[in-house]
Amino acid sequence: MKTKRRVALVTGASSGIGRACVQQLASAGLTVYGTSRHPKRRRGGGDLPMLALDVCYDDSVRTCVDRVISETGRIDVLVNNAGVGLEGAVEETSLDEIRAVLETNFFGAVRMMRAVLPIMRKRRSGRIINIGSAAGFLPMPYSAAYSASKHALRGFSESLDHEVRKLGIRVSVIEPGFVRTDIVEHSTVAAAPFEPYTSARSNPARAFRQAIARGVPSRSSCAASCCTCFPKASCASATSASSPTGNALPSCRSAFNCSVTPRADPLRHHCPLPTSRAHSGTVPPAVEPCTS
Ligand SMILES: NC(=O)c1ccc[n+]([C@@H]2O[C@H](COP(=O)([O-])OP(=O)(O)OC[C@H]3O[C@@H](n4cnc5c(N)ncnc54)[C@H](OP(=O)(O)O)[C@@H]3O)[C@@H](O)[C@H]2O)c1
Repeated sequence: MKTKRRVALVTGASSGIGRACVQQLASAGLTVYGTSRHPKRRRGGGDLPMLALDVCYDDSVRTCVDRVISETGRIDVLVNNAGVGLEGAVEETSLDEIRAVLETNFFGAVRMMRAVLPIMRKRRSGRIINIGSAAGFLPMPYSAAYSASKHALRGFSESLDHEVRKLGIRVSVIEPGFVRTDIVEHSTVAAAPFEPYTSARSNPARAFRQAIARGVPSRSSCAASCCTCFPKASCASATSASSPTGNALPSCRSAFNCSVTPRADPLRHHCPLPTSRAHSGTVPPAVEPCTS
């Protein structure tokens, strides 16, 4: 073991929730590696190391994980945050476009999990935190591929959690509501617009962009990830915002430094949010939280 400090790897750390996660985990005392497809162009948090990673490629995942292991000898926390959006009705969207979203949001996270699981299993310790979405349990129109990717991530994570908890590894899903990031600018619109969908989706799409612009700061959402890992720091409350479909969407107004007493099941209760929420299976008493 080359370092005694806990080591976290956060994918998609050049902006938004990923960048905030890196900063929060580093301030909690972990050695943190962020990643970007363009690490030279896109900085993460301050001087923290940014590794090159495209989660869509096996080689890239292997190189990135090997680098962390060669420098530190361990990976205690993996935050699978890298993700993209796609706006478009199903009939406007090609199979290639759908596959590209699944490749990043679902298979990318799967690749990362498969790469770190042997490392965590050998140490009989580890936390995998997958950034899902409220769309992973509350699908919205014109984002079927995105919703499908987050539903898949949720199901995969919960199933995996059952498999590995006896090995000292826990898998959680954070499902944020609207978070103020550049995700809309970084996402794509289906390349083949097609009436009657183009006009039908213009209002919900505008409402969606406005909801993101009015969303909670990324720091709040990443706090949910950190709470999962650090049960002593927890989320405070949930408040409501409007969704494009008119439903009330409680959003996480958590602050990493708030001090709500941890409950018996911290993974479920630290982010008490009906739609923007963190969850995984129950926590067996034998599993220690990964405090640094
Ligand atoms: N914002 C919201 O309201 C919201 C709500 C629910 C869930 N989420 C989820 O939160 C996560 C972060 O989103 P965000 O809002 O923070 O958006 P963002 O600012 O656009 O961040 C997305 C990150 O993903 C990285 N990325 C994209 N494709 C990648 C790939 N193929 N390989 C590696 N990294 C890749 C990007 O890094 P590079 O371009 O530098 O590679 C970027 O750092 C996503 O999974 C998203 O689905 C967001």
